[in-house]
Amino acid sequence: MRTRVTELLGIEHPVVQGGMQWVGLAELASAVSNAGGLGIITGLTQPTPEALLKEVARCRDMTDKPFAVNLTILPTIKPVPYEEYAQAIVDSGVKIVETAGRNPEPFLPLFKAAGIKVIHKCTSIRHSLKAEKIGCDMVSVDGFECAGHPGEDDVTNMILLPLAARRLKIPFLASGGFGDGRGLAAALAMGADGINMGTRFMVTQEAPIHHNVKQRMVEASELDTALIYRSLRNTARVFKNSVAEQVMAIEARAGETNFEDIKHLVAGVKGRELFNDGDLDKGIWSAGMVVGLIDDIPTCAELISRIVREAEHIISDRLERMIA
Ligand SMILES: Cc1cc2nc3c(=O)[nH]c(=O)nc-3n(C[C@H](O)[C@H](O)[C@H](O)COP(=O)(O)O)c2cc1C
Repeated sequence: MRTRVTELLGIEHPVVQGGMQWVGLAELASAVSNAGGLGIITGLTQPTPEALLKEVARCRDMTDKPFAVNLTILPTIKPVPYEEYAQAIVDSGVKIVETAGRNPEPFLPLFKAAGIKVIHKCTSIRHSLKAEKIGCDMVSVDGFECAGHPGEDDVTNMILLPLAARRLKIPFLASGGFGDGRGLAAALAMGADGINMGTRFMVTQEAPIHHNVKQRMVEASELDTALIYRSLRNTARVFKNSVAEQVMAIEARAGETNFEDIKHLVAGVKGRELFNDGDLDKGIWSAGMVVGLIDDIPTCAELISRIVREAEHIISDRLERMIA
C-alpha cells in the first residue's frame, strides 16, 4: 500500500505504533519498524533525557528503519523537564516525533530546525486544525474508543475521521479502536492515510510487559475498559480491573473528587510494577475498546502483515465485487 503516510514517513506499511508509557521501549519500537510500520519510543518512559538518548541508540542497534519518539505533554504527579526531553530528541538524530497531550507549538521551532517531522495526536477536529495551522506535518486523530486520553468530547472515529478528511489538508492517521484489516480498510475508506494502534501492539510477542497482562487482554471483551478521571476533566480509558472500579466508585461520590483520594491507586509506579510482575490488580493500565477484537499474541511482523493482507483483500476483492 502506498499512502501519504508511507511516503512522508518512509515506511512500507501505513501502520504506526503509538507512544505507550512503560511499553514503548526499543524492543517494541524496533520490532514494529523492522516489520515495515513505524515504531515509537515513549520519551517519558525514560527516567532522564540522557536515558532517552541511550534508548534511541539501543533502538538504532536493533533496526535500520525509521522510528520515532513520543513526547507526551500532560499533567503529571512529578514535574517533567519537557524542554530537556525535546532537546534530547533533537540530539538523538531521530527524524520523526509524535507529540500528544497539549499544543506542541512551543517545541515546533526546535523540531523544525532539526528537520524533524511532527505527528500531533489530537482527540478533536478543532485541535487537528490547530495542529495543521501551526505547522505539524501530520495528525493522529484519536477517537473516543482509544486507550489513554480520549479527551472530553466523546466523539467516535465514525464521525471524527470523515470530518478530518473533509477539513484537513495534511495527512492523518486514524487512531483508537484499530486492530485488524477491516479497521485499516475502513480507516482508508474514511479518508485516513493509515492507522495508529496502541492496545493491539501491547498484545504482541515483543511488547516488553508480563505475559499475564497480554493474556488478560486476549480474554477481555469490548466491555472491559473503564473511563476514569472523568470528574477531573482529564479522562483516561483504562482496563477495567478492580483498581479502576475503585477509582470510579470514589469519583461517583457526591461532590468534587479530590485527586488526593485516588492518588494512591493510580500512581504510575504501580502501573509499571504491574507490567513487570503481572499482578493484574496492583494498579491501572491504559487499554482501548479494541481489546474486544484481540484474541492472540502474534509477533509484530505477523500482526502487521496480517492486517495489511486482510485490508488489501477487503479492498480488492470484497469491495471491488460490490461495485461490479
Ligand atoms: C498502555 C498504553 C500507554 C499509553 N501511553 C501513552 C502515552 O504515554 N502517550 C501518548 O501519547 N499516548 C499513549 N497511549 C495512547 C496510544 O499511543 C494510542 O493513541 C492509543 O492506544 C490508540 O488507541 P488504541 O489503543 O485503541 O489503539 C497509550 C496507550 C496504551 C495502550
